[in-house]
Amino acid sequence: MTDDAVILNIQDIEDTARRSLPPGVLDYFAGGAEDEISLRANRDALESLFLCPRYLVDVSHRNLRTTMLGRPVSFPVLIAPTGFQALAHPEGELAMARAAQAADIPMVLSTFSTHSLEAVRQAATGPRWFQLYVHRDRALTADLVTRAAVAGYEALVLTVDVPVLGRRERDARNGFSLPPDLRLGNFTLPDIATSAGTPGESGLAAFHEGLREPSLSWKDLSWLQSLSPLPILLKGVLRADDARDAVDAGVQGIIVSNHGGRQLDGAVPGIRVLPEIVDAVGDRAEVYVDGGIRRGTDILKALALGARGVLLGRPMVWGLAMDGEVGAGRVLAILRDEFDTAMALCGACTVADITRDLVRYR
Ligand code: GLV
Repeated sequence: MTDDAVILNIQDIEDTARRSLPPGVLDYFAGGAEDEISLRANRDALESLFLCPRYLVDVSHRNLRTTMLGRPVSFPVLIAPTGFQALAHPEGELAMARAAQAADIPMVLSTFSTHSLEAVRQAATGPRWFQLYVHRDRALTADLVTRAAVAGYEALVLTVDVPVLGRRERDARNGFSLPPDLRLGNFTLPDIATSAGTPGESGLAAFHEGLREPSLSWKDLSWLQSLSPLPILLKGVLRADDARDAVDAGVQGIIVSNHGGRQLDGAVPGIRVLPEIVDAVGDRAEVYVDGGIRRGTDILKALALGARGVLLGRPMVWGLAMDGEVGAGRVLAILRDEFDTAMALCGACTVADITRDLVRYR
């Protein structure tokens, strides 16, 4: 790291990353769909929650640990699946996996990893889940699932909110495309290098268009369940009825998310619908949330509303861009410290003490 700015929080890390990334790459990671209403709303939703701290509680011993799908973890955070991490740092997902191991939290690897799922599994130990896009090429999809199971991934995260790609106007304006020397780690596609964008058209959108399976529906879930014994979580659920149907269909987890505001613009922030989804699911599955988490107090708010954990997307990319594994580790260390402070200031000694009464809506 060459930048000697004082780093205290996630915004400082984002600011540092912004100074080093090429503008098109920065816009790809930072941007959202269309008017970016949902992107901004994710932060607004967290900022419109206030905390009602409980005082005169002995908080001298605090335990941040919890479990996710039965695995102990050091604090209730996972690394979200974000694609093309080599755009942020050459070691990409390998560095991210090492940071996850050092922090003792799970990492969710993207289908669009720039290192192979096997290499990422070997780079570090610790819980690892595999994010799956169902591709039009079902054999390719099935192969990814089998490889993930063989390599030791412990769960599949099926992304459900990308039947088509959201309209990301920053990418279109920039004519953003993947650099020709960037390779996908998990499969090769003859057209990846040729899907170059032109101003007004995103090469990435064209790339997705060639792959994606817009017909994906509930009936495909049992097909997916038949491919491996891995537990399945659905990512991108924003409705209690969908969550209930998913659990009825045997899904083990729900990730409440609007895809960081990158898919349907105007989609509700996950944190807003989290309580109704938690109530609908009960103890039949674990419920996670993402979108706009930038502070330890945000983690606490999400847990108070019933999340088992939160996923971090952009902050991890900023950390990676700032300083590879060290930068990603820095993000996790800052959020862990902030979360610890937030717990102490709310009178919570364990994550079980983080209850819904701690939160008020503005
Ligand atoms: C892919 O899922 C993206 O959000 O760019």
